[in-house]
Amino acid sequence: MRLFSGMRPTGPLHLGHMVGALDNWVALQERYDCFFTIADWHALTTSYTDTSRLSENTLEMALSWQAIGIDFTRSVIFVQSDVKEHAELHLLLSMLTPMPWLERDPTLKTMLEDMHIKGVNYGLMGYPVLQAADILLYKAGVVPVGIDQVPHIELAREIARVFNRHFGQVFPEPEALLTATPKLPGTDGRKMSKSLGNCIYLNDPPELISSKIMKLVTDPAKVHPTDPGNPDICSVQDYHKVFSSADAAEYDQQCREGKLGCVAHKKYIGEIVSKHLGPYREKRMALIGHESEMMELLRDGVARARKVAEATMAEVKKAVGIGI
Ligand code: TRP
Repeated sequence: MRLFSGMRPTGPLHLGHMVGALDNWVALQERYDCFFTIADWHALTTSYTDTSRLSENTLEMALSWQAIGIDFTRSVIFVQSDVKEHAELHLLLSMLTPMPWLERDPTLKTMLEDMHIKGVNYGLMGYPVLQAADILLYKAGVVPVGIDQVPHIELAREIARVFNRHFGQVFPEPEALLTATPKLPGTDGRKMSKSLGNCIYLNDPPELISSKIMKLVTDPAKVHPTDPGNPDICSVQDYHKVFSSADAAEYDQQCREGKLGCVAHKKYIGEIVSKHLGPYREKRMALIGHESEMMELLRDGVARARKVAEATMAEVKKAVGIGI
């Protein structure tokens, strides 16, 4: 069965990308025929005014994926804009998508609010249609995503249904493969996000990671190490559950009983996070100086993706009766 997912190259990857998506993608490679795209068209929908870092971010994303364990020979990894059929199918599907479907898309609404976007672009309104084109071009059966992206997968299903109804059965309806999105707050207790400046980046040096973990927000009522704390409102405990689930309950109990100081807890978790990142860091370092090989791998990925995309697009154009 074919699997498709993507990520926007809007900046360096952080811990949330790793535990919320990429660790899972690595494992899914064992079970599915995987296509992963670096969605640069999608990145442009919100940051078209400054494209100066787009190509750098794209290459860095590819290198990070490889260092995490995405296998560029087994899976098909490519840059979205290099396969022109994405733009082509997007245009066609946009004809089949009623505007109200986009206007009520909750993920799009949240994006507009979070980014304080007032006069929304035509291109950004089409974000979910472009995403549907990504998935449908490869006739993917499953799409691993976090819960926030589920409305977009639903939309892709609806668009596929409309297409098939009008033009005959071409597209399977993709299913969201819901990835548990573990709670991993940023250093200020809010959701980890580049724009909030609260991220722990995969490429941060170990000392910086430890110092960022020392800043995590803990129960404000717990002042002294011997005060009983409430781990339910402690970011350190959130990290503990993600990175060391085996002894999380034990530390939770000790915190409640006033037997665990926050500083000690942060040191412990800092070490665990560093350890988790160790293999990544080593591989990422080893890739320094191998950028041109990565470009080669990406070109190969594009060629492999194109084969599938061209075949689907030919079938689509025939079904619709467009072109000669
Ligand atoms: N919109 C997705 C996100 O922001 C990224 C993405 C682009 C994607 N194309 C995709 C995800 C296709 C799944 C399938 O996370």
